[in-house]
Amino acid sequence: MEPLLEVRGLKKHFPVRTGMFQSEKKSVKAVDDVTLHLNRGETLGVVGESGSGKSTLGRLILKLLAPTAGKIFLKARILPTCLADRCCECAGTCRSFFKTPTRRSIRG
Ligand SMILES: Nc1ncnc2c1ncn2[C@@H]1O[C@H](COP(=O)(O)OP(=O)(O)OP(=O)(O)O)[C@@H](O)[C@H]1O
Ligand SMILES: [Mg+2]
Repeated sequence: MEPLLEVRGLKKHFPVRTGMFQSEKKSVKAVDDVTLHLNRGETLGVVGESGSGKSTLGRLILKLLAPTAGKIFLKARILPTCLADRCCECAGTCRSFFKTPTRRSIRG
């Protein structure tokens, strides 16, 4: 069966500055080499400790973030990495539900 969603080698590394004068450049490997596939009718739960990258993975799949590396396929079509591409198929297919919605997001 052709997977509905497929993720291959997905990475998101955030550049951060540390040290007394914020002069040291490092990167936080929020998502590091995630591969998964989800068939139609299946449910996938992502579980992990706080800071393990669950939300970042979700944001990458929703195209709210650009990946450092890796590919995301929706119904076997590769999703472009361009965040400005609003006509992407993902926009009509994927939804997010926030565990801690803000007042603004509740009101719409
Ligand atoms: N914009 C950012 N810049 C730098 N680091 C970030 C950014 N967003 C997330 N991170 C870091 O990436 C890592 C993963 O964060 P993420 O929010 O994805 O974790 P999580 O599993 O969703 O955590 P929680 O269960 O608390 O919601 C954390 O170390 C976080 O501090
Ligand atoms: Mg989270």
